[in-house]
Amino acid sequence: MTVSDTGSEPGSDFLSSTREFYDAIAEDYAAMFAGKHAATPLDRAILAAFAELVGDEGTVADVGCGPGRSTAHLAALGLRAYGLDLSESMLAVARRENPELRFEQGSMLDLGVSDGSLAGIVSWYSTIHTPVDRLPALFAEFHRALAPGGHLLLAFQTGGPHRRHDRPFGHDVSLTFLRRQPDDLAQLLTETGFTLGSRTIREPDEDLGERTPQAYLLARKPVTAARPGGATA
Ligand SMILES: C[S@@+](CC[C@H](N)C(=O)[O-])C[C@H]1O[C@@H](n2cnc3c(N)ncnc32)[C@H](O)[C@@H]1O
Repeated sequence: MTVSDTGSEPGSDFLSSTREFYDAIAEDYAAMFAGKHAATPLDRAILAAFAELVGDEGTVADVGCGPGRSTAHLAALGLRAYGLDLSESMLAVARRENPELRFEQGSMLDLGVSDGSLAGIVSWYSTIHTPVDRLPALFAEFHRALAPGGHLLLAFQTGGPHRRHDRPFGHDVSLTFLRRQPDDLAQLLTETGFTLGSRTIREPDEDLGERTPQAYLLARKPVTAARPGGATA
């Protein structure tokens, strides 16, 4: 694989290119990250905080669940979690490794659930292929799907620049991994109607092969609807 700093915002075909990339690498990705999910104490603390905030009532969607380790981690924390992903090959791994959990194919831009039906949404390194001009629609979909008082957790690489991954594990695919700034996403979340709970940045863990800082945002859909000007109903 070659990794270069030449990545740019993807085009309108980003869903099909993302699906194609992860379909090609699913088994290698799962093997490479075996035992490395939530491998740092801070990652586990943030996931535990999310679980405590959500509580044991209601359903949590792990969007962009990949091989399902994040879904399994959330379930082990006592949440009623299911996984959703674009890639059928990732889902095949997830179902094989977690036969007791539910995994669905779909896009997080259209969650296919009724308004206000989710207690929580986790996007663990899965917003990183969504172009910047589609992030408002993505966060609006998260807001629509969450119940009033529901919680959102985003994890993503930060720092710059975007990174282009070519021929990962020798497969003939490539994809850009977009690096976002926590303040930019936090502002977008508040513009969408979320209340920000925390923004955390941790330094890269070289033992895990990380090259850049990692960011985590916790946000909540207010219990009462926000009104223009910041007042609540
Ligand atoms: C870097 S992997 C992270 C997987 C998993 N959350 C983990 O931490 O192991 C990104 C995953 O997000 C999925 N993904 C990206 N964009 C998506 C979208 N719009 N809807 C659903 N899944 C998406 C990809 O198919 C891929 O499985």
